[in-house]
Amino acid sequence: MNEFYQSNEEQQHYSTEQVEQAKPILAVRDICKTYSQGTREIQVLNSISADIYKGEAIALVGPSGSGKSSLLHILGMLDKADSGKVFLNGQDCTNFNDAERTAIRRTDIGFVYQFHQLLPEFSALENVIIPQLINGHSRKNATARAKVILEFLGLQERIGHRPNAMSGGEQQRVAIARAIANEPTLLLADEPTGNLDPNTAERVFQSLIGLIRQTGLAAIIATHNLELANRMDRVLQMQDGKLYSYVPQQPQQ
Ligand SMILES: Nc1ncnc2c1ncn2[C@@H]1O[C@H](COP(=O)(O)OP(=O)(O)OP(=O)(O)O)[C@@H](O)[C@H]1O
Ligand SMILES: [Mg+2]
Repeated sequence: MNEFYQSNEEQQHYSTEQVEQAKPILAVRDICKTYSQGTREIQVLNSISADIYKGEAIALVGPSGSGKSSLLHILGMLDKADSGKVFLNGQDCTNFNDAERTAIRRTDIGFVYQFHQLLPEFSALENVIIPQLINGHSRKNATARAKVILEFLGLQERIGHRPNAMSGGEQQRVAIARAIANEPTLLLADEPTGNLDPNTAERVFQSLIGLIRQTGLAAIIATHNLELANRMDRVLQMQDGKLYSYVPQQPQQ
């Protein structure tokens, strides 16, 4: 037990099973981040706190420059906050060293970038196999799992294609497949549909939501598309360094 769970007195009234369910996959407390730009200091994240639970599809919205990517990079262990704490699956990761951050990124976190960042010399299948090999899985198991995921995402006809022989939406779905290849508990996506046309964005969005529903992943998806945001379970809005949470009115899917 870490101090975060110990400090949550309400959980003492739950059964063990309920406590398991009530534990957030991701808990962040009082995250602050300031950047220096020349002589100016900009506080991008001003004491951000949030809990993200299993199976939640969460939209992260806010104006350009409001700090969405900065926050995702901290949550994804790609960057460090100036202060505050990050708990992943109940584990306090705040003071992890580089090796520990790399290890937890490999096993527990999937990251999807706006521009897919696939390996150009490798096929779709290989792009999904490689992170699993790095994580110690056998080629046989990694190949089998990669095929299942790519098929789930409607890419069974594309597994032998290199990224430059696929459409933008297909590339992005491969990037999603790669991100979940090692069965992370947390998926972070930074404007995964940002450079796609509306129909393709919808297809990629459907794939993401389908995966979240299928696997029980917790997912945070930064987007400028408020229509998509309002179809998720919860919206986190960045504004002036603060984070506001609301449940959208539109029916979920
Ligand atoms: N490495 C850095 N050094 C200095 N300033 C930075 C750095 N990274 C981000 N910033 C600044 O922090 C602010 C937030 O940037 P961030 O990329 O997190 O915004 P965003 O909400 O993701 O924007 P967008 O919607 O355009 O992607 C911006 O003012 C940006 O210029
Ligand atoms: Mg951004």
